[in-house]
Amino acid sequence: MAETASFLVSSNPSPTLPQNITTIRTIAESPGLTSIPSAYTFTPTPHDQVVSETQVSLPVIDYSLLTSGTPHQRSKIVHDLGKACQNWGFFLMINHGVPESLVRSMIDGCRGFFDLPEEEKEEYRGKHVLDPIRCGTSFNASVEKVFFWKDFLKILSHPVFHSPSKPAGFSETSLEYSKRAREVARKLLKGISESLGLEPNYVEKALNLEQGLQVIAANFYPPCPQPELAMGMPPHSDHGLLTFLIHNGISGLQVQHKGKWVNINGIPNSILVNIGDHLEILSNGKYRSVLHRAMVNNKATRISIAIAHGPSLDTVVSPAPELLEIEKKAAAYIGIKYKEYLEIHQSNKLDEKCNLDRLRI
Ligand code: OGA
Ligand code: NI
Repeated sequence: MAETASFLVSSNPSPTLPQNITTIRTIAESPGLTSIPSAYTFTPTPHDQVVSETQVSLPVIDYSLLTSGTPHQRSKIVHDLGKACQNWGFFLMINHGVPESLVRSMIDGCRGFFDLPEEEKEEYRGKHVLDPIRCGTSFNASVEKVFFWKDFLKILSHPVFHSPSKPAGFSETSLEYSKRAREVARKLLKGISESLGLEPNYVEKALNLEQGLQVIAANFYPPCPQPELAMGMPPHSDHGLLTFLIHNGISGLQVQHKGKWVNINGIPNSILVNIGDHLEILSNGKYRSVLHRAMVNNKATRISIAIAHGPSLDTVVSPAPELLEIEKKAAAYIGIKYKEYLEIHQSNKLDEKCNLDRLRI
């Protein structure tokens, strides 16, 4: 068990992005860079414990048992899924059927996008959080005191599919990947509905998943000369129901479990799955969205792609009345329209679960 630093926002007065810089890639590639600009410096605090994945047993869910297992295997996996959601809010999904080659093409395609000349990305430097294609740096540079060491590309891929036209082939790849991921997410949500004691199509119907929002968020973390002072992404929870994360094999993701940060690498061909705020609301807090963050390193570029599966934008999500009935509990969250929540989540600072906290009764 190692003691390492965690990060608090330093009281840097009012940072500005170094002039003319629109991406962290440009900063990271400046010749002879040996220290990071002060606008990227977080103050480490010494109290966080970080443990490795091998020291705790992460839940592993075999997706194939949900779809083609025997009735006995299926009921066991539904039970395990419920336990994973309740105890971790996070699991590794294996045998999901999404081809490895498709995952690899998706990562290569995103790398290709980030590597485009800056002027070719200009048209996507969106302003509004619900712009269908939007790229930028940090998370929300207009409200942040200290910037994060990453560039991002966000694409709305459902109910209407969007994609940048470059790099070549990316649009086809991301269409295929988003379809496959969505299929898997909907089946998982059936299992999750059952694990809550609801009928399998409960989440699908209650949250209008037919029109469900799907957001692809690609993250680009270039090598950083002082990784102990910078952050890729601060501790946060995701907004949707389920997020799937794939990456290029470079580590950096940490998930909070029982007050400790766990380094997560996953196992080859697995997809990392975590619960988002809206599944926490729907399940009345039985399943909780999990805090996670991304660290940076000084050796290799890390690319990760989070694909968030959510309700339809106009659905008002509140704790499932049927569940409150089963559990004999009062609602612990007020209802909110998904679109409204998303706008708040994406236009504020990413700060732990501050957005969800406002909805607690
Ligand atoms: C995200 C996210 C983690 C990572 O995009 O929401 O948590 O490892 N990414 O990049
Ligand atoms: Ni996240």
